[in-house]
Amino acid sequence: MKVLNLLDLEQVAKEKLPQMAYDYFASGAWDEVTLRENRAAFERLKVFYRVLVDVSRRDLSTTILGRKISLPILFAPTAFHKLAHPDGELATVRAAGKAGTIMVLSSLSTTSVEAVMRAATAPVWFQLYINKDRKFTRDLVARVEAAGCAALMVTVDTPEWGRRERDVRNQFHLPPGLAAVNLLPSNARGKIISQSGAGMGQAFSWMLDASVTWKDLDWLRSLTKLPVIVKGICRADDADRSVEHGASGIVVSNHGARQMDTAPATLDVLPRCADAVAGRVPVLLDGGVRRGLDVLKALALGATAVQIGRPVLWGLATDGQSGVETAINLLREEFDLALALAGCANLSSITRDLVGG
Ligand code: FNR
Ligand code: LAC
Repeated sequence: MKVLNLLDLEQVAKEKLPQMAYDYFASGAWDEVTLRENRAAFERLKVFYRVLVDVSRRDLSTTILGRKISLPILFAPTAFHKLAHPDGELATVRAAGKAGTIMVLSSLSTTSVEAVMRAATAPVWFQLYINKDRKFTRDLVARVEAAGCAALMVTVDTPEWGRRERDVRNQFHLPPGLAAVNLLPSNARGKIISQSGAGMGQAFSWMLDASVTWKDLDWLRSLTKLPVIVKGICRADDADRSVEHGASGIVVSNHGARQMDTAPATLDVLPRCADAVAGRVPVLLDGGVRRGLDVLKALALGATAVQIGRPVLWGLATDGQSGVETAINLLREEFDLALALAGCANLSSITRDLVGG
């Protein structure tokens, strides 16, 4: 099959991947209502394109936390890239570098943060869960800072793992040889989970802490000079509070619909979150971005940039680094065309009046 878009790419990846891996990547929580909603919200929104604008030269680049990126699309943090392809996170970070954009490395990566940083040619941010073991969290932050990551993204929608029933049915586990290596060698627990076969819920419960509050965000900020971005926001008051607590950015995200099912589509809550932030810090959005046109819509509703999660995994599963390059290049071409058709020569001309019901 000739891959024309990211939906095709998922089909190719699905054929290549073992069922357990495909289901882990693809699934959402419970009835997967939010999984469908994240997409449906993009499809519902209409574009009121402008005409007779000179769009013969288009600039897709933007600046985020002081760094220029070639397009407003980042790689969202996703776990276990070696489950998709043996080259794992190294393939992903090389593709991000080639595309001139930021990869957010999951704390559950199957390649060490140091090895990823050695292969990086563009900024890498590190995603973090505040662990029950605060000393472990503090050591990890120091390690990540020393490795050269440019920012921390703390995920706050995960007091417990959401229940993904496909994983439970498949008894999801990491195949032998794969482990969450950033969690080693400080302790041996990363290895234990690779054999557990119990799904995320039980295998990784020690990673999380259901008692985390805003105070812990202040604590995290006190540990590091790195900017801290808060990921997993769906409400205006939480968006505002994140900034009040010193966040350098927020991510409007429902974890790709893997945590709270029936949470609203991220696109639907973006305007109120962006209004609450009121330009004080960058606002990112992820969840269901599959077309370049979706990027235009998210930016129109107040996002500084978007993140893509699963499409990177589909690219990786299809053809390693080159597959991830295919994914980001397809989106770049679509976004560029969407800009032209909307009458926008650059990102600052993407205004809210371009979209509506
Ligand atoms: C994720 N996501 C995620 N988020 C995070 O903060 N830390 C993580 O380790 C992971 N791991 C992870 C694994 C897989 C397989 C998926 C699909 C997602 C959530 C991710 O960062 C992002 O919020 C969503 O993936 C965005 O939605 P789309 O683009 O996948 O629809
Ligand atoms: C997930 C975790 C790793 O969504 O964030 O599977």
